[in-house]
Amino acid sequence: MTNRVDGPRLVTGAARYSGDHPVDGLVHGYLVLSTIANGTIRTMSADAALAAPGVLAVFTPFNPLRYAGPWAQGPGYYLYGPNRFPLQPGDREVRHHGQVIGLIIAETFEQARDAAALVDTAYDARRPNTSFADGIPNAVVPPPLTGPPVADVLEPRFGSIDAALADSAVTVRTSYSQRPEHHNPMEPHTAIAAWDADGKLTIHSGTQGPLLHAQEIAVAMEVEAAAVRVISTHVGGAFGGKASTWPPAVLAAAAARQVRRPVKLALTREQLYSVTGHRPAVVQDVALGAARNGKLRAIKHDCVSTRSNVSSLYNGVSGYSLGVYKAPNVHTGTKVVTLDMPPATIMRAPGEEAGSFGLECAMDELAHALALDPVALRLANDTDRHPTNGGPYSSKHLAECLQLGAARFGWSRRKAEPRSVVEGEWLVGYGMAAGVYGANRYEMTMRVAFRNDGTVHVGAATSDMGTGMRTVLAITAADSLGMPLARVVSVLGDTRLSPDPMSIGAMAGAVGSAGSSSVAPAIRAAAKAATDALILRATQHERSPFHGLAPEEVSYRDGVLSANGRSIEFGRLLTVMDVDGVTASGTSTPEATPSHAMSSFAAHFSEVRVNRFTGETRVARMTSVVDAGTILNPAAARSQIIGGVVWGLGQALLEGAEVEPATGRIANANFADYLIPTNADIPDIDVHFLNYPDTIFNPVGSRGLGEIGTVGSAAAIANAVFNATGVRVRDLPISPEKLLPASEE
Ligand code: MOS
Repeated sequence: MTNRVDGPRLVTGAARYSGDHPVDGLVHGYLVLSTIANGTIRTMSADAALAAPGVLAVFTPFNPLRYAGPWAQGPGYYLYGPNRFPLQPGDREVRHHGQVIGLIIAETFEQARDAAALVDTAYDARRPNTSFADGIPNAVVPPPLTGPPVADVLEPRFGSIDAALADSAVTVRTSYSQRPEHHNPMEPHTAIAAWDADGKLTIHSGTQGPLLHAQEIAVAMEVEAAAVRVISTHVGGAFGGKASTWPPAVLAAAAARQVRRPVKLALTREQLYSVTGHRPAVVQDVALGAARNGKLRAIKHDCVSTRSNVSSLYNGVSGYSLGVYKAPNVHTGTKVVTLDMPPATIMRAPGEEAGSFGLECAMDELAHALALDPVALRLANDTDRHPTNGGPYSSKHLAECLQLGAARFGWSRRKAEPRSVVEGEWLVGYGMAAGVYGANRYEMTMRVAFRNDGTVHVGAATSDMGTGMRTVLAITAADSLGMPLARVVSVLGDTRLSPDPMSIGAMAGAVGSAGSSSVAPAIRAAAKAATDALILRATQHERSPFHGLAPEEVSYRDGVLSANGRSIEFGRLLTVMDVDGVTASGTSTPEATPSHAMSSFAAHFSEVRVNRFTGETRVARMTSVVDAGTILNPAAARSQIIGGVVWGLGQALLEGAEVEPATGRIANANFADYLIPTNADIPDIDVHFLNYPDTIFNPVGSRGLGEIGTVGSAAAIANAVFNATGVRVRDLPISPEKLLPASEE
């Protein structure tokens, strides 16, 4: 259990986020956003804004910024970001409400904001296409985001999944829906961009992948990637929303180049909703066919997601059902409805978040239909091989998660009959769900340096988006080198720290729950390489006590080098040799074609209390048991799972954008109206880890934790609401009014 190595800096406000860096001569930007969702800008009056105090420049489509765009979707780049960037020459088209149509640069933030209000825009407006419901009958199959389309699994005797369902003893057919969701990081996207006299750009910008961010900015600025330095020392939350490059970084860089001053551009909370991405709305139809004993015979999971006309990403949630339960017949399908709405992106457990809600609620409906215990139903359909590709799992203990979770939670006290526990004005219910999230890791190169002050520095360009990456680096390096944690310094969040070329996957950084499992094995490799380099130096340097020995005669242990009965601590050795430090890098690469299926697993249990008179749902407690391999830092791992479960609670009970159909405006783009869980909404969350090392997945044995807490937790809550009330709410969030008819006396 290790506290955050940067904890004191984080809680005292000493940690610098992207907007906190003092830069000489800084000027400020403020965005002007469109007030229509579809149309052409006829005129924009910039004169009043230009004449306002402190204003240096007003950029519009009529006075555009100079950078490359609109961007093609190049290989690997911009996959999860917008495919159109604003303020391009001659691009007067408005494609969604809240699109960037102007950028004011002024001496102060307030001057820029005031001037933005003076810009008058005249549009030739067209009727926006904003209704998801209207588009569903004409939804189309999109190209797959990655990999080939998925084929159905069918027993030879069935011609279709419907035939397999019709042949099942029991079927449930059900449909679930949810609105767009927004990441709402504590730190809205902010960039400070400064060019030097040599045409090199330094940009402070919060990102999950500084190297990819630098590449994307370089493409837009039409400069070499090496000319862009991204500094992302601390990131105030990301959750997928800072995986790609969004307008603030590009516009700040382009404007700074044109006004020849460093520019800071910070989004307001409201602007986040349309200038950066969101999780698309989705409806899903889930049909399950089973034998009377609960064994699944058929799974049919179809979904329709929204897609923005300015980005490629959609919420393909049905594929989740390919990797959870064993059934001989499986069909998954995905369609999209393209709308005039802000760009979408990945958001914590993209796909799995909603897909697990659909599958795990349907499993609860099946358990109810069969009068089977929901835990027993999951156990009956568990499999030690991947259910559709058949490969063996590297390590899987979902059954133990389910059984141990049930025991810890007190599941045996559950009343199977809904609405049978009433305590005063509260209806009490228990619910559960399972979760699966694929184990990802990327090629990663880390650097380890022995310093002459007796410290070890470990790092790379990768950033800590708030998950505790900095601490995992320190723990892993300390452990690899037998050093106390206090003598290890993590340096990260700066592209200068990774001079080596990297694959796109490695540059993407902290995504797909891959962060720790990618960096930890690379740190081990780097620690070994640094130790070898240190020993080599010690045998070569004239002032070293080991001069002239063969390297294999010198050993390293716990920070001390020894040979022939002599020992010296490395800091002392480097000082004696008058060397600042010895640095080496190490790379760890996953298997190109893994021999095993690899995933993290969880079982979530929830007790809810629903008010009989108001329909208000309170989550009373949660238990989550997680199988994610070796746990590198129990404290940080626990917070990751708590964070994931809190997301599930938000998904189940609170979250959802309200899009005004007539205008495409997001009507609740603020913390008063877009509800996310606050401390008062969060109960005691009991988190337990099984801690079985998965050394097939990686040499350290750890699997990802960032997203598995979210997968299934909303379903556990929704299933508990059904158990409490007898009402199955299939449209999220489960807001009080949806429970009112049943809660009336
Ligand atoms: Mo996560 S949505 O892969 O940043």
